[in-house]
Amino acid sequence: MTRETQLGFQPPAIGEEEIEAVADALRSGWLTTGPRAALLEERMAEYLEARHVLAVASGTAAMHLALVALGVGPGDEVITTPITWPATANVVVHAGATPVFVDVRESDLNLDPELIPAAVTERTKAIMPVHLAGQPCDLDPIWELGIPVIEDAAHAAESAYRGRKLGGLSTATCFSLYATKNIAAGEGGLVSTNDDAVAEAIRNLRLMRRGDGSLYDLTVPGYKANLSDVLAAIALVQLDKLPEHTARRQRQFELYDEGLADLDGIEPLVRDPRDTHALHLYVVRIDPERFGLSRDELQRALGEERISTSIHFLPVHRLTWYRERFPEQSSLPVAERAGGEILSLPLSPAHSEEDISDVLEALCRIHDRAA
Ligand SMILES: Cc1ncc(COP(=O)(O)O)c(C=O)c1O
Repeated sequence: MTRETQLGFQPPAIGEEEIEAVADALRSGWLTTGPRAALLEERMAEYLEARHVLAVASGTAAMHLALVALGVGPGDEVITTPITWPATANVVVHAGATPVFVDVRESDLNLDPELIPAAVTERTKAIMPVHLAGQPCDLDPIWELGIPVIEDAAHAAESAYRGRKLGGLSTATCFSLYATKNIAAGEGGLVSTNDDAVAEAIRNLRLMRRGDGSLYDLTVPGYKANLSDVLAAIALVQLDKLPEHTARRQRQFELYDEGLADLDGIEPLVRDPRDTHALHLYVVRIDPERFGLSRDELQRALGEERISTSIHFLPVHRLTWYRERFPEQSSLPVAERAGGEILSLPLSPAHSEEDISDVLEALCRIHDRAA
């Protein structure tokens, strides 16, 4: 039966604890960066097993500052994936450099490491892989190239690559605290790094003052990219709730895996058992021939069943600005086909098991009708 209420795609799981924490922050008098942001950095450094964590205004700011900290600028190239939120490529443009898109692999739609060497030139200053949906990229062959790696770990706060937590493995790792993320503050971001110089540079860049706050002086024309204590207060509670929220997402993944196993033409992206997947998004791929509907038709049909879905992501190099700015961009066939076939199903600790059953029942009904 069609639901009576709309099922949100990824509503935040916020409770009285977050509300109390915000009220406490407001009562404390610290509206901007203060002790709660500092505590978040300390606790995240421990959680991510990294030497430094810097709290910033967004995941986008985290990546932008990491690029600037590495001195990436005009004339430089940065290799990245087309299957990402445009922020990953936009920050390269913001830094004055050129994004170079390399195709993804079929299994998990992460950067295909076999294709990266051919894209490396003497101008390549960094590689920015994205851990799509929470599945870590194949990092070993990327590190072997000896080029600084800035990971876009917006989806990967809980991921581990071959048993090692993401956060202290590459030159810099960038996380997002956006409203839908595993640790959600509404907005916010984090950079983690074991590199003292990168940490110091970002400390100086995120606010218009010296990183140690001791002097009214400027060593670099910094940005306004600091994190407010009000948001840090929410993130701290979300961090405490992570085990409980992870367990709920885990259960939702299991329900989807079981429920979709017998439906022809709809398959989840591959998850590598050697890694810890952050279970941030449940992305399926639709084979229109076998399913009987295209991805767009299925998304519309689910909408009619009052089920919200999303797409992660449309290939960035095909978006208008990138198409017009880089007309010589060659085709990236795996990303382009996947862009028309992927769909992200509702997933959130705020959803109940019944909510996920509703999605599965709707998918079965739509599938039967389409067959
Ligand atoms: C893959 C990816 N990278 C970067 C970002 C940017 O993070 P923020 O929204 O915190 O700037 C997002 C989403 O928000 C994302 O999904």
